[in-house]
Amino acid sequence: MQISRGSTDYRIYRTLSEKPASGEELGRELGITRTAVWKAVQKLKENGIQIESDASGYRIIGEKELNPYMVARIAFENGFDEIHFYDVTDSTNTRAREYGKPSVLFFANRQTAGRGRYGRRWLSDEGGLYFSITLSPPLDYSDLPKLTLIAGLSVAESVPETEIKWPNDVLIHGRKVCGILSELHGEVERPLLIIGIGINVENPAPENGISVSELFDMSRKEVFELVLRNFSKNYQKLLSGSWDELRREIEKRCSTIGKKVRVIMPSGVIEGVAESIAEDGSLVVDGRKIHVGDCIHLR
Ligand code: BTN
Repeated sequence: MQISRGSTDYRIYRTLSEKPASGEELGRELGITRTAVWKAVQKLKENGIQIESDASGYRIIGEKELNPYMVARIAFENGFDEIHFYDVTDSTNTRAREYGKPSVLFFANRQTAGRGRYGRRWLSDEGGLYFSITLSPPLDYSDLPKLTLIAGLSVAESVPETEIKWPNDVLIHGRKVCGILSELHGEVERPLLIIGIGINVENPAPENGISVSELFDMSRKEVFELVLRNFSKNYQKLLSGSWDELRREIEKRCSTIGKKVRVIMPSGVIEGVAESIAEDGSLVVDGRKIHVGDCIHLR
């Protein structure tokens, strides 16, 4: 389902999530009839929002699990204009590419064809977080990889005891908790960047992976809200010219630095010691800048 900021159902949800209200009050606030309010309330109920109504009006009860409207509220508070919520879809990155517009967040409870980098699969069972955001930032083409790096930073800032594995995996105690798949779409003059984020939260993690809930008492809602808030903060920082501050923070949290690594690049394989993250976001290995590649920590 699709939710936009100005839709009647979303506006009613927003008001009711703050305080109970009567049909009359809601109608007055939104400038619509009580029948239109009633219809919107039915739509909210059909989409899993528990709403109690009595003589004094409507109230939302027991919102524990992430629901489409909660996802929308968090997304809108962090600068997105539209959300597409799926109980199940093939891949949120594919949905984002097909829609082709910026400032949209695609969210799924499950994916049947979750994709990782280099054609790998991303297991997407119930309990994990799977979402993609679309951006068309006012930046040079060569700056776009920085956005993928700040997505990884934002996840690392949201979950305790994490480290970044260059370019954008997030690990807890050396085991992968989050993967990021960035894809470019559209014309070179106005590219659409799709950043797909998968986080193991309450789902059983695949082999060599780890789920947040194995170590911390954090819900999907908490993790999702923190990641979006941190991403929006870091995105604003990037746009306001503070890349160097972000780069240093990424470097500080990046466990690749100082390690012997093997990087498999489109042009060949390099082994050496990872020294730093360069000004352009590339990884410096034995003095050589690596822009893209699959990085393996050797020791
Ligand atoms: C990787 O580690 O190789 C990247 C994994 C990215 C997974 C996320 S889940 C949401 C979005 N939809 C996808 O199909 N993939 C990304």
